[in-house]
Amino acid sequence: MKKVAFFPGGSSGIGLGCLEKLLNNKEDDWIIFVACRDTDRADVNLVSLNVDYEKLKNVFVIRMDVTNPSQVTKAIEEIKNKGFELDLLLYSAGRGFAGSVEKTSIEELTEQFDVNFFGFHRVIREVMPLLKKGACIVPIISLAALVPLLFQFAYCASKAALFMYTWILRMELKNRFRVSGIVPGDIKGKIKRGNKKNPSFTDARLKAKKEDWENEESSKILKKIEEDEDNGAACEKVADVLLKILHSKNPRPFYMVGKPLQVFLVWLSKLISLFSYGLVERLVAGKHWASIAKKSITETKKSAA
Ligand SMILES: NC(=O)c1ccc[n+]([C@@H]2O[C@H](COP(=O)([O-])OP(=O)(O)OC[C@H]3O[C@@H](n4cnc5c(N)ncnc54)[C@H](OP(=O)(O)O)[C@@H]3O)[C@@H](O)[C@H]2O)c1
Repeated sequence: MKKVAFFPGGSSGIGLGCLEKLLNNKEDDWIIFVACRDTDRADVNLVSLNVDYEKLKNVFVIRMDVTNPSQVTKAIEEIKNKGFELDLLLYSAGRGFAGSVEKTSIEELTEQFDVNFFGFHRVIREVMPLLKKGACIVPIISLAALVPLLFQFAYCASKAALFMYTWILRMELKNRFRVSGIVPGDIKGKIKRGNKKNPSFTDARLKAKKEDWENEESSKILKKIEEDEDNGAACEKVADVLLKILHSKNPRPFYMVGKPLQVFLVWLSKLISLFSYGLVERLVAGKHWASIAKKSITETKKSAA
């Protein structure tokens, strides 16, 4: 029997990688509903995958902005009207936002939460009646939920909220569905990004405050974020974890995935934070921290004088 999945954010990056994995999986035949805003881009990305044309016929692209409640309702109705029930919801719709706490407006912060956090809640509430008993609900979270990243407070906070949401959702739905969050570090997508057709996750941080970019420290840090993503782990790693969740009767609440050193450092910082938050700050911000700390001491001295 065919299995059915709903992939908000499945048109690019991690979601697209997971889609390729499921379609090429020998054990099950999957029908996948991909939902995103730019459906033309989705079509182009789908045909570039290493997947049999016949299998691609089982993929349907729906236009849906997760920040738009009526589009979410409509997308799920479309699946329902086709007579399908779902075995899997993979939520990888997301955007990045970079900018300092000081320069970020409430509107920008709200936009960030709207996609990464409220969007998931909108989808969950609508999709629930369509999920089969025992179906998997898998949001893509981020290691940024667990460690503080300079100039990415909005992103980190939205992912931290999603982390806790996922945990509680899992407890509430324990007897009906299998809820398991994937918590990736830096991941390289399937398609080369960073151009007009395929904006990179960092391009989605366009709203990053110009003043912040022009500040020497923040521009260095944002450049580093971009480099880290370009050199990230292959998105097949995330897809393998998704398969593990699907095959498990009782999957773990969370699966961290990424380059081993990065995952280890996050574990280490969680452990260290039991004793010293200051040490975690130094560990996470590296050499940038030292120069920022030095600068702020100088500024404090200046204003005191
Ligand atoms: N790549 C990484 O290093 C990494 C690491 C940790 C966590 N993550 C998380 O993994 C998820 C996917 O990241 P990615 O790197 O695969 O990013 P990506 O390649 O930019 O993919 C994002 C996906 O979300 C969709 N999307 C964005 N805004 C949307 C909206 N308002 N409504 C509906 N769909 C929307 C995009 O399609 P449209 O633009 O057409 O709507 C696209 O399909 C994100 O939640 C991200 O935070 C990524």
